[in-house]
Amino acid sequence: MSQSSNSCTLHDFHLPALNPMSLMFQVFINQSETARQMLHSHERPSASRPFAPYPIRDDLRDLTMNAIDLLKADHERVKGILSQLSESTERGVKKRTELLTKLEMEISIHTRLEEEILYPAYKKAGGKEQDVMYYEAKEEHRTVDSLVLPDLKHTDPSTPEFAGRVKVVKELLEHHIEEEETEMFPQAKKLLGKAELEELGTQMETLKTQLKKQFSESHMAA
Ligand SMILES: [Fe+2]
Ligand SMILES: [Fe+2]
Repeated sequence: MSQSSNSCTLHDFHLPALNPMSLMFQVFINQSETARQMLHSHERPSASRPFAPYPIRDDLRDLTMNAIDLLKADHERVKGILSQLSESTERGVKKRTELLTKLEMEISIHTRLEEEILYPAYKKAGGKEQDVMYYEAKEEHRTVDSLVLPDLKHTDPSTPEFAGRVKVVKELLEHHIEEEETEMFPQAKKLLGKAELEELGTQMETLKTQLKKQFSESHMAA
């Protein structure tokens, strides 16, 4: 199927500063940041260590999400957005556009958390079998991020073609999520252990807050 001649990119849907979606992103980011600061001591990242994670207060350590739980929570959000997208209709152009923006944000951030934090630790701790899974998972990320999702973003949401492409994205992501949750994550749990997964979870929370802020700012600025 050819792409619609009326196709547009997400950048065409950039939201003005007071758009409800922009405000929603900002509220979400502020809430995440407040919750994170409540969990940690007053030692903040410095100019020389701008990405240093906040140290965790010992009495609240159990409340911090480990890396696997954090990624699984992301998966649930992505699956929820995909379900809503697949139930949407050609008349719901605004809804489809908003859902697609949310999906793009969730996937782009989640992929960075995995590729920059969990996957390298998993590969380093594992052997040949983990190497194969590492490269397969990265290739699946590339298929979604560079091929399938851009196609969807360039498809007119008021056409049946859009629904067809949503179906393909949904199937690919659900397959990828299932492989991670049934193969890679259980192996990572064994290989890395509780303490390391908690440390990686803390790093992910820090990076996630930064990336959400960047995503929101880039969409508000446009
Ligand atoms: Fe993944
Ligand atoms: Fe994942």
